[in-house]
Amino acid sequence: MPASQALPQRIPSMTQQSQRPAFAGWLSTTNDITRTFLAANRVPGLINMAGGLPEPATFPTAELAAIAADAVRDHAPEVLGYGPAEGLPELRDALARRFSSRDLTLTRENVFVTSAGMQGLDLVGKVLLEPGQLIACQYPTYLGALDAWRPRSPTYRNLVIDDPAFDAFSALDGAQFAYTVPNFSNPTGKLVSVETRQALVDAAHRTGTWLVEDDPYGTLHYDGKPLPRMIDLSARTNPGAPYAGPVVYMGTLSKEIAPGLRVGWVIAAPAFIEALAMAKLGADLCTSGLTQRIALAAIEAGLLEKIQPTILDTYRQRRDALCAAMREHLSDWLEWEVPVGGMFVWAVGRDPSLNTDDLLKHAMAAGVCVAPSSVFDATGMNRRALRINFTLNDASRLAEGAKRLARAFEAMRDPKK
Ligand SMILES: Cc1ncc(COP(=O)(O)O)c(C=O)c1O
Repeated sequence: MPASQALPQRIPSMTQQSQRPAFAGWLSTTNDITRTFLAANRVPGLINMAGGLPEPATFPTAELAAIAADAVRDHAPEVLGYGPAEGLPELRDALARRFSSRDLTLTRENVFVTSAGMQGLDLVGKVLLEPGQLIACQYPTYLGALDAWRPRSPTYRNLVIDDPAFDAFSALDGAQFAYTVPNFSNPTGKLVSVETRQALVDAAHRTGTWLVEDDPYGTLHYDGKPLPRMIDLSARTNPGAPYAGPVVYMGTLSKEIAPGLRVGWVIAAPAFIEALAMAKLGADLCTSGLTQRIALAAIEAGLLEKIQPTILDTYRQRRDALCAAMREHLSDWLEWEVPVGGMFVWAVGRDPSLNTDDLLKHAMAAGVCVAPSSVFDATGMNRRALRINFTLNDASRLAEGAKRLARAFEAMRDPKK
C-alpha cells in the first residue's frame, strides 16, 4: 500500500445510495486515524512514530509460549469454554491482591476483567452515558476514549489541569463522569501532580461524579518515583473498608507485557462492577479464558516484574534518543518537554498557525507517520501539536524519523521543493 493511501480520512457521510438503511449518524463524525496507525507498520519503508506501540523484542515470548501450552493442557474446559462475564475468579483475586495497599482494601467484587483497556472505556460509556450527556475530560484527550464514547454523542468539558486557575470542583460538577490519564498522559506524556490528583479526588467525593483513572502507562516511569494512584487517595477517606468510592481505576497488560493478550481490568465499587457485567453481556460475553489464564500465570510467576527493568532501560534510552534527534532536526519548528514516563513526546508548533493535519500528509510522503493533535480534541480544532511515539523504533530509526519530519516541515513551507 503506498504511504499516501494510509492517510487518515473522514468517513464519507453515509447517505443512502440504495434501498438499504443508512449507517448510524456518528460514523460521519469520526475519523479512522487509529486504523492508519495500526496499518502503518505494514507500509514498506514507513517509520511509524504514531501509535502507542511497544517494542516486540520486549515480549517474553518463550515464557508466554510455555504458559500458554500449560494452560491449554491443564485447564482445557476453562480456557476453551465460556467463562464468567466478570472474569476468571482467580485472576480477579490476583488483581485484588496486586492493587490492594495500606489504604486500599480490595476484594474480588471490586475487580472486573476486560478485553484490554479499550473495552473498559467502551463499557464505562455504555453504563454511564445517556445520549448527549457531559464528560469532563483531561485535555487533550486520548483519542481511543473519544472513539469509544462517540456513538453516545456526549458533550465535553475540557479539564485544563495545568491552568493555575483550575478548579476541580467546578470542573467535575454536573458531569456524568470525569476522565483522566494521570500517569504520562496520552497524548501529552504529562504526569499529574499529587496536589491535582488529590483535588480531583476531593471534587469527585463532593460532587458524586465518577472519576475514571485510566492507567496503562503507570509502570513506565523513567525518572523519579511513581505517584499515588487516585483510587488510593480516595480510599484514605474510609481506610480498611472494601472500596466503594467514586474512582474507577482502569489498567491493562498491553504496555506491561503484550497488547495481543487483550487483557485489562477495571477496579471500582462493587455496584459499578455489577453494571459493567451487564454491559459486557452485550459486548463479548466474556474475555478469552486462554489469555486470562496466561495473564494469571504471568502475574503469579512474577513475569511482569522480571521484564520491567529491560522495558524501562530500552524505553528510557529511546526517549533520550528521540529528544536528541528532535533537538538536532526539529527545534526550529517545535517545542516540547522531555516526558518522565510513558510512550510519547508531545511537541507544539512554534508557529501558532501550524496545521499538523496538513503536515501529516507531507510526513507520510516523506516516509514517517506521527499523530496530529486534532484527533485528541473532541472538536478537532487543535491543529498545532504532534504526538510522537518513541517506544517502537530503535535510536537510528528515531533519528531518521526526526530527519524525515524536518523534511516534511520544509516541504510544507516550500511545496516546490
Ligand atoms: C490512555 C489509554 N487508555 C487505554 C488504552 C487501551 O489500550 P489496550 O486496549 O491495548 O489495553 C490506551 C492504548 O494506547 C491508552 O493510551
